[in-house]
Amino acid sequence: MKITWGSYPQHLGHTDSPGCFRCHGEELKSKTPGKAITQDCEACHKVLGVEEKNMKALQELGG
Ligand code: HEC
Ligand code: HEC
Repeated sequence: MKITWGSYPQHLGHTDSPGCFRCHGEELKSKTPGKAITQDCEACHKVLGVEEKNMKALQELGG
């Protein structure tokens, strides 16, 4: 079928394709009552830190 790397988009993550955001986000809304599916990072990720230095969680992961 001549399928090779790149024939289909990689929908995991946010860099190669809209991925989860194809449905999650303000672009897609139900007709009634006009609700969107959440794009809140915390729905799919657990943010352990943003700018902290020497984070315990990172040390435990060997980072
Ligand atoms: C609907 C679920 C979902 C939401 C909402 C979401 N993400 Fe993700 N995110 C993912 C998935 C799935 C991956 C890929 C995980 C993997 O590769 O193991 C990912 C990967 C990432 C990565 C790693 C780089 C990449 O693109 O693979 C970063 C950084 C990231 N997300 C940041 C965010 C931020 C910031 C937000 C909020 C604006 C967000 N995400 C919202 C599902 C989501
Ligand atoms: C084809 C459309 C579609 C795609 C693509 C999609 N989702 Fe969803 N997702 C939904 C729908 C529909 C719901 C239910 C929304 C509701 O009940 O309000 C949902 C709900 C969720 C929820 C529960 C959110 C909450 O607050 O209860 C999580 C977590 C989730 N999706 C993760 C993901 C991840 C991770 C990806 C990408 C790997 C992804 N979804 C891609 C349609 C999609």
